Amino acid sequence: MKLLHVVGTRPNFVKAMPVIRALTAQASDCEQIVIHTGQHYDPNMSQTFFDDFDLPCTIENLNVGSGSHAAQTGNIMRRFEPALLKYAPRAVVVYGDVNSTLAAAIVAAKCGTPVIHVEAGLRSGDRTMPEEINRILTDQIAEQLFAPSRDAVANLAAEGISGDNVHFVGNVMIDTLVNFLPRCNSDEVLRKLDIEADRYVMATIHRPSNVDSEEKLTNIVHALAEISRELVVIFPVHPRTVPKLAPLERVINASGIRLVDPLGYTDFISLQRAARLVITDSGGVQEETTYMCIPCLTVRPNTERPVTVSHGTNRLVAPTRDSILSEYKLALETSTARCNIELWDGRAARRIADIVAAEYGNAR
Ligand code: UD1
Ligand code: UDP
Repeated sequence: MKLLHVVGTRPNFVKAMPVIRALTAQASDCEQIVIHTGQHYDPNMSQTFFDDFDLPCTIENLNVGSGSHAAQTGNIMRRFEPALLKYAPRAVVVYGDVNSTLAAAIVAAKCGTPVIHVEAGLRSGDRTMPEEINRILTDQIAEQLFAPSRDAVANLAAEGISGDNVHFVGNVMIDTLVNFLPRCNSDEVLRKLDIEADRYVMATIHRPSNVDSEEKLTNIVHALAEISRELVVIFPVHPRTVPKLAPLERVINASGIRLVDPLGYTDFISLQRAARLVITDSGGVQEETTYMCIPCLTVRPNTERPVTVSHGTNRLVAPTRDSILSEYKLALETSTARCNIELWDGRAARRIADIVAAEYGNAR
């Protein structure tokens, strides 16, 4: 069985790692190749994850880089097709909802290669999000769909996708977290940043809906500045957000907000786990905070990960200074019970590997 895994962005690397490792462990006949589209390319958005994860397979980089949605998606398609033809895999595995996911899925489906979608069925219901378009279309052309939660299975059924090829397996991003938590000792990174556990807030903001709106980003930064009078705010800045913060430099410099470069996975998780609270618009961070029981404010009107709100520590909050501050106070006053989300148990990738081996292995 030969499989091509397609990744391109930071969250893809985190999701693919456990699946590749589980297939290596469980399917001895499995040859695996990773195609990195190059959608993310800064060393701290890309190489650092490969250093941490040490994947046991060939990795080829298509070096596509940044561009408009059409340019980026089209370039990935053009460069992925020859790679697909060269390797002629039994199936192509795609992850999540980024442009690399959709581009590779379209190419594979049209070349007659089965598409396996890991993290299928998530829906925010918000078609202004580029990721929502990527999710809907990828699920329509996938042959095997691996859903992280029951709501995702229901979303697929509502779009007419149901049957033996839809599998509720749990969350692979949590697999990586479970695997790495024992080596995520916060002491070192706390010492490096000269902060104390539980005495800081961690922030990550990168959605276009927040950072491309001067008004919303200004509101968010003003709320963080206010919070930083009480708790230090550590803000690892995504490259999309960097230029957008320039006009807010004076506010930031006069506050306790500390901008830092994007962090490697181990440092980032180590900081998340010791934070008093997290403020984010990231998809993965909503899940990780829920698993670790860290209060989380998600600055978005909706989420494709509703279990993090109904069963976790996540609260949706509007991008206004007052909403963020009032939810921040509420979250600090509310105690967080240990969250236990069905099949978020560190074994999702093993379930996926079993099914993939049964479907596409040589015995078939
Ligand atoms: C992409 C995904 C988003 C995901 C995020 C994870 C899509 C449509 N969006 O958003 O769902 O949450 O990745 O982080 O696929 N840049 C750099 N260096 C890099 C990468 C990006 O400087 O290594 C800058 C470029 O100016 C680029 C901008 O960031 O134009 C946006 O990058 P892009 O990959 O297009 O989208 P993200 O915002 O990263
Ligand atoms: N992450 C990281 N360093 C950072 C910010 C995030 O390692 O500085 C990890 C985070 O723990 C999670 C993933 O990157 O596993 C989430 O990526 P991101 O927020 O960029 O994308 P999203 O999940 O929103 O698509």
